Amino acid sequence: MSLIELKDVSKLYGFGDATSVALDEVNLTIESGECVAVMGPSGSGKSTLMNMIGLLDHPTHGDYVLNGKRVSHISVTRRAKIRRDKIGFIFQSFNLLGRLTALENVALPLLYKGFPTSKRNHIARTMLERVGLHDRTYYYPRQLSGGQTQCVAIARALVNSPEIIIADEPTGNLDTESSRLVMELLGEIHKSGNTIIFVTHNPELTRYATRVVYMQDGAIKYDEQTKLGEVGTYARKVMYAVPDTTEEDDLAGVSVLMKVRKDDTVKPSTKRKRTPARRKARLTRSEDGRKAQS
Ligand SMILES: Nc1ncnc2c1ncn2[C@@H]1O[C@H](COP(=O)(O)OP(=O)(O)OP(=O)(O)O)[C@@H](O)[C@H]1O
Ligand SMILES: [Mg+2]
Repeated sequence: MSLIELKDVSKLYGFGDATSVALDEVNLTIESGECVAVMGPSGSGKSTLMNMIGLLDHPTHGDYVLNGKRVSHISVTRRAKIRRDKIGFIFQSFNLLGRLTALENVALPLLYKGFPTSKRNHIARTMLERVGLHDRTYYYPRQLSGGQTQCVAIARALVNSPEIIIADEPTGNLDTESSRLVMELLGEIHKSGNTIIFVTHNPELTRYATRVVYMQDGAIKYDEQTKLGEVGTYARKVMYAVPDTTEEDDLAGVSVLMKVRKDDTVKPSTKRKRTPARRKARLTRSEDGRKAQS
């Protein structure tokens, strides 16, 4: 039995002429223990897919089977319970509460489970140690670096011992070094048996994955198994691909924006800008004039 099975899953937003197809009959099976990188251009449906797998959203058509149970159209309460017990989320924007310390943020999901304070704090402390932040227990998010903040978010995602970790661009707001730190941490979590699904725009980060799924226009375009430590074949192509727009295309786009509408009455300035070359020409002219007078 597979852990995650999406069968002909579609997600439509809006209706009539304004309908947009965020997911278009997606079929995807993920086994327990996989580490899947999801790539694709902006708007290709990556986050919608994550929300679907993480039970934050439900399909318009098709079926979602999680651990052998059909979960596509279950009640909001059951959905929330499965999310709480089975799934840990990590987002690009960290989503920590600014008024709570690192420890309180990590312990928060346990509060919803009804754990007493001492037990909550004990587990949260263990999680902060696991992500290497035991010396930042009482820091507030604003006192932490981006990388540290994301590590607290990872500790919070782990606190319920979820089977599945869903990370939507977990390194999207981080510099290269912090991204490496966060991905190393996710790599360790994967080794300890969790199933991880992460979205990235960075082909380099597919090194941490055992499989790369590439989306386009709401559908899965490529799906390849990869070796840990290696960049996926398709991801490699993307990495070295020549951009398909030229500088002329960009300029054309800009000039469309700059075009003045007929009813716009802004007159172009007649005053010429002083550039260094014009200033030099002006000085030479007046110098020549003085020479001619003398
Ligand atoms: N709540 C919504 N209402 C209407 N359309 C939506 C909604 N959420 C997503 N969409 C549309 O669905 C499509 C897929 O969006 P999605 O956020 O999944 O893309 P993405 O691949 O995650 O993009 P990005 O890389 O920019 O995060 C887009 O065309 C988007 O406009
Ligand atoms: Mg997205």
